[in-house]
Amino acid sequence: MAEASARHNRMVREQIEVAGGRVFKTVGEASRAVFADTSAALAAAVAIQRAADTEPWPPWPPGPPIKVCIALHAGACAERDGDYFGPVVNRVARLLAAGHGGQVLVSGAASELLDGRLPGGIGLRDLGEHHLKDLGHAERVFQATGPGLDRGFGPLRSLDDPALRHNLPSQATSFVGRAAELAELRSLVLRESRLVTIVGPGGIGKSRLALQVAAEALDGAGDGVWLVELAPVGEPELVARTVAAVLQVREEQGRPMLDSLVDAIGGRYLLVVLDNAEHVLGAAAKLADAMMRCCPRACLLVTSREPLGISGEHVFRVSPLAVPPADLPPPAGWPLSSRCSCSPSAPPCTGKASPSTRVTPRRWRQSASAWTGSRWPSSSPRPGWVRCRCRRSAPGSISGSGC
Ligand SMILES: Nc1ncnc2c1ncn2[C@@H]1O[C@H](COP(=O)(O)OP(=O)(O)OP(=O)(O)O)[C@@H](O)[C@H]1O
Ligand SMILES: [Mg+2]
Repeated sequence: MAEASARHNRMVREQIEVAGGRVFKTVGEASRAVFADTSAALAAAVAIQRAADTEPWPPWPPGPPIKVCIALHAGACAERDGDYFGPVVNRVARLLAAGHGGQVLVSGAASELLDGRLPGGIGLRDLGEHHLKDLGHAERVFQATGPGLDRGFGPLRSLDDPALRHNLPSQATSFVGRAAELAELRSLVLRESRLVTIVGPGGIGKSRLALQVAAEALDGAGDGVWLVELAPVGEPELVARTVAAVLQVREEQGRPMLDSLVDAIGGRYLLVVLDNAEHVLGAAAKLADAMMRCCPRACLLVTSREPLGISGEHVFRVSPLAVPPADLPPPAGWPLSSRCSCSPSAPPCTGKASPSTRVTPRRWRQSASAWTGSRWPSSSPRPGWVRCRCRRSAPGSISGSGC
């Protein structure tokens, strides 16, 4: 395994460098690279896929060939000590998460820069607009096609994939920052604690953070991710009823709703987000306690200005959002006025948002303009209700569908 991993990373790095790019981060078998030229980034992606198909991978572990998933995006971002930060980096990671092994995905922004500059024999197939796991604006996504590239993948793993069961609402803006909080909460919710309460003062971003954690947790496994809005719930006795309505659990005559609810959830793998619980704290605590005792695979992510105060609860306190670097363009979907204030070199505000005004071509040229990330099937399925998408087809082998 280690030999295959090292060989994979070497091959990816070689192809990127031959095309004029630079790998600036590798974690496991995932690489991030930056290019000055989007066309060169696409050429590297195609070369990686072709090389992956012909590479004499070590015979162990046995199984179908290793498949690489690659995503390309373009935009301005901040560089610090050789690393890159900002919405563009987050976006390419989410694009990558939507892809399948063997696929090369290209964002709408990168495709605009490729207009008339596609490498020989390579085309772009329009896969339509997709809500990547960020609940903000939809992204137009393309798939590179041509000789040596796989075709016929399943639906993208975006929030629009019908296999992902959820009721998470779209948001008017893209999610900003909080990378460390997201990583910690993801790990807490998926691996360490089945009951996590995000606590902080009003307006600090608790609900938005919970929604983002929930969106990222969706992987098609289990029985889905369900948001229960408690803000409009006036009476404590309506809390269980509101959760039951979202999970489509029917009331049984002569039986407390909470009992019917926990029975119906039973052993299902679920993540329930109880949003804005502070004004019905007692009822929310009772519900959480019952779910923790009777539903061994259900996870609860609560947002509240105060903790529930029950045993087993992991309290996660939120701090104010860090101020972004001044040279970073605001994420897509933010009002143009705030874009203009963050981006002094942008053209005068027209009052109308369009993709071409999100980051000006001049700024693209000034800064890093294309990114690739590749991902490789992991051999270690994650515990809990969220399972690794790469499944072993037999003990010791990795399935070919890859990531
Ligand atoms: N990281 C973020 N990225 C983008 N928008 C955010 C982020 N955090 C908060 N917001 C926005 O700020 C506003 C307030 O955030 P939010 O509703 O999450 O606060 P809250 O802590 O849940 O407040 P309350 O206690 O009143 O429920 C919302 O419009 C939300 O979309
Ligand atoms: Mg809230």
